[in-house]
Amino acid sequence: MKPKVYVTRMIPRPGIELLETYCEVAINTEDRPLSRAELLDKVRDKDGVIGLMNDRIDGDFFDAAPNLRGYANYAVGYDNIDVPEATKRRIPVSNTPDVLTDATAELAWALLFAVARRVVELDAVMRSGQWSGWGPLQFLGADVCGKTLGIVGAGRIGTAMALMSRGFRMPVIYANSSGRRNEVLEKELGASLIPFDELLERSDYISLHAPLTPQSRHLFNAKSFARMKKTAILINTGRGPLIKEDDLVQALKKGQLSGAGLDVYEFEPRMAEGLAALPNTVLLPHIGSATDTTRTNMATMAARNLLAMLRNERPETCLNPEVLAQR
Ligand code: GLV
Repeated sequence: MKPKVYVTRMIPRPGIELLETYCEVAINTEDRPLSRAELLDKVRDKDGVIGLMNDRIDGDFFDAAPNLRGYANYAVGYDNIDVPEATKRRIPVSNTPDVLTDATAELAWALLFAVARRVVELDAVMRSGQWSGWGPLQFLGADVCGKTLGIVGAGRIGTAMALMSRGFRMPVIYANSSGRRNEVLEKELGASLIPFDELLERSDYISLHAPLTPQSRHLFNAKSFARMKKTAILINTGRGPLIKEDDLVQALKKGQLSGAGLDVYEFEPRMAEGLAALPNTVLLPHIGSATDTTRTNMATMAARNLLAMLRNERPETCLNPEVLAQR
């Protein structure tokens, strides 16, 4: 009998084809997330599941799927998974690191430049036919070259984003909640690890790449915005709840920072009231990994991980490898 697998939302075909070589595969083919009740119902008889960051993988999920032998997240961030609970039940869980690092770092740069040079706002001026011709005082933005880049969370994506700054000759500073030094950034860029509050005060651009944890939730709040340079620009391609979004709206209105580029939101798909009306924001719909190649690579990585779990082999990117030793 083939193992039964459920995929909670359609993913690129190569991932599905890989699963089909070994499993009986069922997929949510509707273009919408499953409700909680639907999810718990669909996984009832499944041996393995591939899910998305909006699927909560916790004790109730595991209770609903008594045959489960593995869960593969179609995302690098795994704040949706209760990993200790999976470990307690000896169920391996995995994520999709590395394959989306460059795409996400590139998007952080796209947002940074878009906010600094008002790309979206001024594109609208052109389209509306309101431009009356070149003027020395028109549409001034912010420089990037030589400005200080602050990275919050210098893991894989934070490191890649910072390394891409080389062409722009930016001093780089970083803060990590673990306090761990990043030797690549220090060696390649002469970057320095500094306390978070100091990073707020010194950075011209701040790019967020920290994982969402109880400690990092609302790291950016009214108090943090009050410490930032009034000319600073905040970029978030990590997780929305790193920022208390209502406080960001107020801080932008008060001019405590100069702009924000966001790909993620505190309560997706909603945005805080007032955010969309601010001209000094660029707002994208959580597309950090959204390139054809990257999404395909995520699909095949998630599929390989799940197949390994179902075969009692070691998945490439297991979040609780200690359960493998116990099997
Ligand atoms: C996307 O947000 C991811 O974590 O992969």
